[in-house]
Order: sequence, then structure tokens, then C-alpha cells
Amino acid sequence: MASLGVNIDHVATVRQARRTTEPDPVAAAALAVLAGADGITVHLREDRRHVQDRDVELLMQTAAVPVNLESSCADEMVDIACRVRPHQVTLVPERREEVTTEGGLDVVGGRDRVASATQRLADAGVLVSLFIDADPAQIEAAAALGKAVDGVELHTGPYAHAWVDSGGLRASAEAELCRLADAGAKARAAGLRLHAGHGLNYQNVGPVAALPGMEELNIGHSIVSRAVLVGFEAAVREMKRLIELASRPGR
Ligand code: PXP
Repeated sequence: MASLGVNIDHVATVRQARRTTEPDPVAAAALAVLAGADGITVHLREDRRHVQDRDVELLMQTAAVPVNLESSCADEMVDIACRVRPHQVTLVPERREEVTTEGGLDVVGGRDRVASATQRLADAGVLVSLFIDADPAQIEAAAALGKAVDGVELHTGPYAHAWVDSGGLRASAEAELCRLADAGAKARAAGLRLHAGHGLNYQNVGPVAALPGMEELNIGHSIVSRAVLVGFEAAVREMKRLIELASRPGR
């Protein structure tokens, strides 16, 4: 069975909208673990738009499950990763103007940069996973980096988009699922661990979780979105109750 890495970036996004202290993503991580999360994933972006250095430090001290740190290949970020030494680093591409990670890491075109970051992390004793598109050339390039690379995380964004566009697991989403299956088989044959993530939600996760050899799924946006709706009623009730209590005569 694939493990679930809960990505808590968007808890931090809500906090950063006010530059305040709540909601604390580290508290969300503890709740995720209570609910069965097998791992916690955070993306410390170069622009620090959501997760902050403090979150990563605290998570490393408190998380009862492995921490997967998503990071670009920039020296500054690799320095941090080598210092905090999470269980795993997933190397991702990063562009300042993007809303979220768009497309996988170009291991073919950026071989030297990826190889250098990967080797530094492996030397620090950190497992390295590369976030790549379900493209045979990228799998081959990842495998060619040798033992320093532990696994690959296949980018499931195109599959998730196809699912929305075709209204379910119809032809276009099936075609993307086949690409994921083929890429997954190639990765495993090359001795790489198989992970997947991006855009997975309560409707589309099943077929990806069922791919042979799938070991880890990293899911954030859909879980945080659902948490907001599932928790909204209780949160309003709590506030209403405080106002009622404060309005009682004799207080
Ligand atoms: N995996 C990687 C490499 C990502 O960059 C992200 C988004 O931060 C995720 C998984 C999670 O994607 P989502 O938030 O769409 O579930």
C-alpha cells in the first residue's frame, strides 16, 4: 500500500495571508499524524511564500513521522536541507512567478545542477527523490545519476487536469494514467522507488494509488481544502458560543 505524505504548505499559506501565527502548520502536522499520515511534506520555497524556516526547524524537532522536504536545486536551499537533514528531499523545479510547481524537474537538460544537489544531499545522509514528468527520457536521466537518487515522484498534474477536463476517468485521463503506469514500470525496473503527487484529490487518487509498486503519494491542496469545509461548522459554533456566553446577563 502506498504511504500518504500530507503536504501542509497551504496551512502556511493561510497564515501568511495575515503574516500572523495561525493556523500553525506544525500543529496541522501533528493532527495529520494522529489521523494516519505516514509522512509530512513541506516545500520551503526560495521566496518563503508559505512555509518558513521556523516551520521546518520545528517540524524536524516534533514530527513523529518522516519529513519530506521539497526543495529547488539552489545552493541556499540545499545548504538548509543538508543542515536540517530531513528523511527525504524531493528536488523540484521552482520559478518565482508560478502559482505552484508547474512541470517536473528537467533532469535531462539540467543534469549537472541536479547531479550536484543530489550528491550533496546523499552525502549528508538524506534520501533524494526527483519530481519529474512521466517521460521515459527523464526516468533514464534520473536513473543515470546512480545510487545518489533513491526514487522519483511522478508529476500527476496532467492526469488530474485530464480528469477534470474529461469529467472522470475517460479517454484522456486513461491515457495519462497509462503514461504514469509506463513511467512507473520503467522507474522500478531501473531500481528507483516510485512516488507520485500533484493535483491528487478524493475523486482521482484511487487509480494512481493502485499503480504497481506505488510507494508514496504526496497530497496537499485537496486535503487542506476539505479540512476547511469539514471544520467550518464546528469553528463557527465555537465562536457563536463565546459570543453567547459573553452576552449573558450578570457577566
Ligand atoms: N508533490 C510535489 C513535488 C509538489 O510540488 C506538490 C505541491 O506542492 C505536491 C506533491 C502536492 O500537490 P497538491 O497540493 O496539488 O496535492
